[in-house]
Amino acid sequence: MNLEITGKTKLCGVMGDPIEHSISPAMHNAAFRALGLHYAYVPFHVRRGDLPAALQGMRALNIRGLNVTIPHKVAIIPLLDEIDPLARQIGAVNVLLNDSGRLIGYNTDAEGFLHVLVEHGIEPQGKNVVVLGAGGAARAICFALASRGAALTILNRTAAPAQACAEDISKTFSLPMKVLDLNRENLAYALQQASVLVNATSVGMLPAAGASPVDRDLLGTHLTVMDIVYNPHKSKLLREAEKAGATTINGLEMLIWQGALAFEKWTGRQPPLNVMRKAATAALKKYEK
Ligand code: ATR
Repeated sequence: MNLEITGKTKLCGVMGDPIEHSISPAMHNAAFRALGLHYAYVPFHVRRGDLPAALQGMRALNIRGLNVTIPHKVAIIPLLDEIDPLARQIGAVNVLLNDSGRLIGYNTDAEGFLHVLVEHGIEPQGKNVVVLGAGGAARAICFALASRGAALTILNRTAAPAQACAEDISKTFSLPMKVLDLNRENLAYALQQASVLVNATSVGMLPAAGASPVDRDLLGTHLTVMDIVYNPHKSKLLREAEKAGATTINGLEMLIWQGALAFEKWTGRQPPLNVMRKAATAALKKYEK
């Protein structure tokens, strides 16, 4: 069925900066089409300073739902009318629902990440896990890992957001947690003792795909390396981790799961996961040509 835009069409989308490499439009529009829903999904390029105006626009234009991505997931919290309790605990929002002009913020990243752990048979209980980053995605991932009993080491380029992330998570879970600056020496120390490494920074994402947050000689067979980057499909970090004999998992499944859970909130319908997975994979292939 074609995606026909009519007077009944409800609008959803994703806002972030950069946004042009997003595969969420392909994934969600395929899902709307598959279920014959009068919805459409578009990308919105919203820069940091334009966030309050964008939210006013969402209300005024009666946009039904949005995904929120880099760099807005944390900054958006004080600007919303209501925050779901889980998103409040995590301190980050990746899904907005417009309920008759009231903007409600949710977090589906954490649950999406947990689905990926289960799919790959990873049991974080008692394991040392290194997380790179302290933005919105990192907060959701740290929260999910802490909820499964992992001992976390958070490394970030900037100290303050990492401290805030650790403090907020400690309000819900009392687990061992370290915060370090993101540099080679600290990475070498943390990775020696870890069995899982998660890159939750945007380093390595298109259009800057030539970068990796970790020097290749610090990677080894003892690690499972997960990257939230899905575009390119295999980031430099994952390519080098694979060469070093580590198990690797890219960010695509987390993207699909967080999107599926968002779809459910906007439409009230069961998300067609396989349709979404197929569309997301096909959209990625187009970029890689
Ligand atoms: P999101 O909400 O999607 O996680 P974000 O809040 O902008 O996006 O967070 C991006 C993360 O990637 C942050 O941890 C950021 O580090 P800073 O807190 O120091 O800004 C990290 N990041 C982005 N670019 C980076 C780079 N070039 N080197 C290291 N870390 C980087």
